[in-house]
Amino acid sequence: MLLQALVWFGIGLAPTASAAGVLAPTPPMGWNDWAHYQCRIDSHVILDNARALVKSGLAARGYDTVTIDDCWMRKQRDSHGNLQTNRHKFPQGMHAVANSIHALGLKFGIYEDAGYATCGGFAGSGVPNGGGAPHFLEDARLFASWGVDYLKLDGCNVYAAKGESALAAYRAAYRAESEALKQVGRPIVFSESAPAYFQGQPQWYDVLSWVRGYGQLWREGSDIEIFDPRRPHRSRWASVMWNYEYNLQLGRFQKPGNWNDSDFIIGGDRGLTLAETRSQLALWSMMSAPLILSSNLNRLSAASIRILGNRAVLAVDQDPLGQMATLLRRSPAQDVLMKPLRGGRYAVAVLNRSTAPLQVLLRPRTLGFSSGTCRFASVDLWTGARRSGAQDLAARIGAHDTQIWTIQPSAACGVPARMGVITRILPNVAHNDRTAEAYTRCLAAPGAVDKCTDSAAQRWRVLPSGALRSGGQCLAQVGHRARLGACVTSALQRWRYTLPGNLINRSTHECLTGRASGALTVQTCGHNIASQVWSVPASMRDRRAAQ
Ligand code: GLA
Repeated sequence: MLLQALVWFGIGLAPTASAAGVLAPTPPMGWNDWAHYQCRIDSHVILDNARALVKSGLAARGYDTVTIDDCWMRKQRDSHGNLQTNRHKFPQGMHAVANSIHALGLKFGIYEDAGYATCGGFAGSGVPNGGGAPHFLEDARLFASWGVDYLKLDGCNVYAAKGESALAAYRAAYRAESEALKQVGRPIVFSESAPAYFQGQPQWYDVLSWVRGYGQLWREGSDIEIFDPRRPHRSRWASVMWNYEYNLQLGRFQKPGNWNDSDFIIGGDRGLTLAETRSQLALWSMMSAPLILSSNLNRLSAASIRILGNRAVLAVDQDPLGQMATLLRRSPAQDVLMKPLRGGRYAVAVLNRSTAPLQVLLRPRTLGFSSGTCRFASVDLWTGARRSGAQDLAARIGAHDTQIWTIQPSAACGVPARMGVITRILPNVAHNDRTAEAYTRCLAAPGAVDKCTDSAAQRWRVLPSGALRSGGQCLAQVGHRARLGACVTSALQRWRYTLPGNLINRSTHECLTGRASGALTVQTCGHNIASQVWSVPASMRDRRAAQ
């Protein structure tokens, strides 16, 4: 735990770099049928989309893996226990589909499940219902024999034996798949859905802490809204905002080779405007999220293809540092995000969540640069417009749109401070109220958790010592209270940040606790108690460059 805390406070230790041999050193990209087609798939749908991926030029931009989701097989295994491809949908079998996809220069992904049945009720790889031997190894061998490059292992219907917890059953299943994949002699990127089955529960953070040992990416939460042909015009924007919201707070779990997956890019499909498509791509890229398109690629407009194929934005997503954006500022209308890129550059984005246009002006100080003579060269990634010697970033942002820039600061700017908002979540928001406002609270000085309003009291700096500073004062434990006071060298003002998200006082080893009522206290640390789990700004240092 101490080691992890040092890593997260950026003191001395480097995260695992994308050394040769690391699978998925940058977030996976590709296409998956699910959010557009659900079970309405066959070899034509898959191969038409694979060809469109190439023809549109999107494959050449990095979207290189075509994954077949649920409903590709039969409900039962054959008499020898083998999975059976649905031959009505895939008459030539799956090996042939894989060959066709490989022949297009693409990689091939497939869907299975860690339980006894997939979410659609087809044969799963996991322990049979009621107990028995799982099929992880033989299924993995089958996939390898087809030339599978990527496996999405869902987590419906995981059987837990009597006395076994769901947590233990999931862990055993995902560990078994990870072991099986190591034995099949083919590198297969492993996408784990386990955390999504614990969203909203304290065990969520336990699962998020172990999936990284088994696979390369993991779905942590609810599905992005699927296309419903009966309601083709229905907006899917709220769902994009929700997946962004829950994903944004989990940056501490990811690193090159280990990615949070906020689910499919539905931008370009029905239900999102072009502005919303820009937002989804920019926000996912700021989060270093996997970019897995899930739409009918043959029906993408030229404008959508331009957005989804924007090289500069994709380079932000694929930046080798792989860092989640830090939320610098948040008000009901807007989020300001920043993330470090390799080579001392930074990506900055502003989301306009509202339905009215927004004028923004970001000065160096807002971005954490200290010097008055700081200037930067900036590129507007949507228009390609360049400015040099600038002292601000300015834009007018339309409703639901996101502006995104990269900046190269001058030497006078220094390294940006580690700063931004400190948030906690209210995990059990009602299904119809999955919004940033309902879900997230901001730590406010002198001692409260409030709705996020971008007030000065909600702006924090995390000092290398572990002190949390707001308005020039530091947060200290005083009895069971947290109070702001003059910054001094006292362990009572230093907080250790752990992987699950606790802020633990260095002196008392108690946890900063932000109650849903708004009260801020310091209490005995519990196990993943929602009021004690925080999302804290990340360091803007390129730790690899510093080595
Ligand atoms: C779950 C997953 C989806 C999709 C379906 C298939 O809901 O989260 O992405 O794979 O199952 O049944």
